[in-house]
Amino acid sequence: MPRPAPAPPPLGPAPDHRGPDLGHHGDVELAPGLVDLAVNVQRQPMPPWLRESILTSMETLTAYPDPGPARAAVAARHRRPADEVLLTAGAAEGFVLLAQAFREARRPVVVHPQFTEPEAALRAAGHRVERVLLPAGTGFRLDPELVPADADLVFVGNPTNPTSVLHPADVLASLARPGRVLVVDEAFADSTLGPETGTAAAGAVGDDAAPDSPASRGTSEPESLASRRDLPGLVVVRSLTKTWGLAGLRIGYLLAPAGLVRRLAAVQPLWAVSTPALAAAAACATPAAMREERRIAARLAVERAYLVRRLGELSRVRVAGTPASAFVLVHLPGAARVRLALRDRGFAVRRGDTFPGLGPDWLRLAVRDTATTDLFVAALAGILEE
Ligand SMILES: Cc1ncc(COP(=O)(O)O)c(C=O)c1O
Repeated sequence: MPRPAPAPPPLGPAPDHRGPDLGHHGDVELAPGLVDLAVNVQRQPMPPWLRESILTSMETLTAYPDPGPARAAVAARHRRPADEVLLTAGAAEGFVLLAQAFREARRPVVVHPQFTEPEAALRAAGHRVERVLLPAGTGFRLDPELVPADADLVFVGNPTNPTSVLHPADVLASLARPGRVLVVDEAFADSTLGPETGTAAAGAVGDDAAPDSPASRGTSEPESLASRRDLPGLVVVRSLTKTWGLAGLRIGYLLAPAGLVRRLAAVQPLWAVSTPALAAAAACATPAAMREERRIAARLAVERAYLVRRLGELSRVRVAGTPASAFVLVHLPGAARVRLALRDRGFAVRRGDTFPGLGPDWLRLAVRDTATTDLFVAALAGILEE
């Protein structure tokens, strides 16, 4: 008698997982006809130079992808050698590679609230994950004392999704140490604005910006560790899908010491990043692209300040911390019900209860243009008055 086939291994999170649905993402909140405040991807038209480079790459699709030029361009952008860069199919692939490459980690820790995929990837790879929850009462500020001293694989977001809090670089750097891999998810770092570039970028930094201006040097992302090569075990995760509206193209990268990059590359599927995605990565790493990025961040800062000010007019709504990215987190008693009422009025927002450390009274709102903000705040005010 043939023996029954063994049951396939379970897919998805390891069975020890209880609690919020880590696989929930903002795109699930969308539906035709709804204004999207749920997904943190910029909605501006694609710049012609980016479109052009992606389209031109189509002419070489018969060849397997060659990551060399994009790797060199990204390395130059962050002033690192090319062997310290690994191109990935979005930042999301980076988390999977990290979870798989460091399977021997004894005490993986994820600092929450934050993007849920790092923890999901760790669990799917069989890790037992410990959560450090930053309290709302401190504005979700990073307290390095909360991270166990013997944690050997630590994930932190900066700026953090969903809180929009930007942690100081020196506080993050204090978490790096020999024997630990410190992963800093900088998927939204390009949306942040340093005080030194705030005025210039919001004003008139053009393609003819002074070659040595902060915007052109690429040092103007405040609190980014992307160019730090002195910190042991530091892996910086970057995404190009947010600011450049390339979520469907899947492009991001990891920056790390060469030895770690080799370990991560060893678990990456062959040809994981397509030729058009590589073309986009190279195009987005040029000095001109970086200047444009600063201008986008400057516009975002103005629109974010407007959203925060308008939300401040609503007595029951409290904005968390000091938002620094493309979204804001708000506390609103009864947010779960309000979210459904907002859908009835044509707005999709991101529920907060699927983020560990938050709950049903939180919502995340993408920063949009001021006209959209006005319509949204009017709808929200109407619901709160009912
Ligand atoms: C904080 C954060 N990191 C990483 C990602 C994944 O980005 P990518 O589209 O590059 O995979 C997201 C996507 O929402 C995110 O919010």
